[in-house]
Amino acid sequence: MTIAVYAGTFDPVTNGHLDIAVRAAGLFDKLYVAVAQETGKNTLFSLEERVQLIRQELSGVANIEVVSFDGLLVDFAHKIGANTIVRGLRAVSDFDIELQMALMNKEMAADIETVFLPTSPQYLFISSSIIKNVASLQGDISRLVPERVLLALEKKLSQI
Ligand code: COA
Repeated sequence: MTIAVYAGTFDPVTNGHLDIAVRAAGLFDKLYVAVAQETGKNTLFSLEERVQLIRQELSGVANIEVVSFDGLLVDFAHKIGANTIVRGLRAVSDFDIELQMALMNKEMAADIETVFLPTSPQYLFISSSIIKNVASLQGDISRLVPERVLLALEKKLSQI
């Protein structure tokens, strides 16, 4: 059985992340989408909110399980029996840091491989930060996030 993990902060999940998750789910028997508790980023949404938002969107994909994790990703991968880490690549600018992380993860866990999926072209330019920034300025992000995320963003930003 092939088991992979796709980890991120997902603050909040975007259509770009969902695109990677659904495509990765087609490549493995089981895909864990792992929401990081602590990544050094000051998150807008709590861990529970980030998990809930992404879980709602992926509930229709039978072989995906959305979970949260803390600590090293390689340790978590071992715990769930995953031997592959999936990463999305958007641009050349992602490559340096992605290669660094992949090599560091390999250094720590030689049995775990990192595979990269190219982001679909319509999502090349988005990130969670840019989505939050545009949403806070009332820009239209409706093509870039699911409806429930859009509503959650509007609500959260109105409380700040
Ligand atoms: N579509 C849209 N946006 C995307 C995307 C895609 N396909 N792929 C990445 N992004 C965005 C993310 O939204 C994020 O945007 P933000 O910085 O504005 O929030 C940005 O690109 C970076 O995303 P990503 O590379 O997935 O990083 P992350 O911070 O979300 O997650 C972890 C990084 C959690 C995987 C990493 O920090 C980790 O493994 N942490 C655990 C601790 C550990 O093991 N450390 C050692 C690592 S060597």
